[in-house]
Amino acid sequence: MKELFIVANWKANMTSSEATKWLQRCQISNVIRRPADQISNKDIVICPPFTLLSMMRTQIEERKLPIKLGSQDVSPFPKGAYTGEIAADQLKEFVSYVIIGHHERRKYFREDDQMLANKVDMALASGIVPIYCVQDEHTIVPKGVSIVVYEPVFAIGTGEPDTPDNANSVATGIKEKAGVQTVLYGGSVTPDNVHSFMIMEHIDGVLVGSASLDPVSFGRIYTRS
Ligand code: PGA
Repeated sequence: MKELFIVANWKANMTSSEATKWLQRCQISNVIRRPADQISNKDIVICPPFTLLSMMRTQIEERKLPIKLGSQDVSPFPKGAYTGEIAADQLKEFVSYVIIGHHERRKYFREDDQMLANKVDMALASGIVPIYCVQDEHTIVPKGVSIVVYEPVFAIGTGEPDTPDNANSVATGIKEKAGVQTVLYGGSVTPDNVHSFMIMEHIDGVLVGSASLDPVSFGRIYTRS
């Protein structure tokens, strides 16, 4: 059985009380509240905003939820005089993963290939696994990346996902070109379409934006994947 990743990207959403309710509802619905050893082949990674990492880590531990945390960004610089930045060395206390190269970072914050490669280096040096987003099989993937997400721009937040067949063929190309073993699909994933992506040979999971904000719909994505 292959290892599957179900990654939630909360983007700039959720207050601490909303996140607490989200975790409570996950627990109550019993969807993902199972001992880690019964979770089989599915890894759940939630990527909340930085402001929620500390309290989410505490709550996940207290509730014994089989959820790992990721951040949505990391500084391309080390710890030090970089006002406003959060360095990988600070993040490693809270997260196992970090999303790097998301289209929104490239578009709104002008992050280029060199900066993204620096972020990957910083994450790896601190033992954080990058979840690296690419727009197609031609996007450069920095050295050391082991998990890539294929996220076509037209599918992000539009309700118009790629077809599973095309996503699978792009994932195949990414695996060949970048030499990675794990490729996820992201872009308008919902409880209704997740299965069609998950059954594809070269798709090893999903990155979910809007549909991850509702714990019930995220739970359904988990159970149907
Ligand atoms: P979406 O976002 O699921 O809302 O399309 C996915 C993403 O941008 O990571």
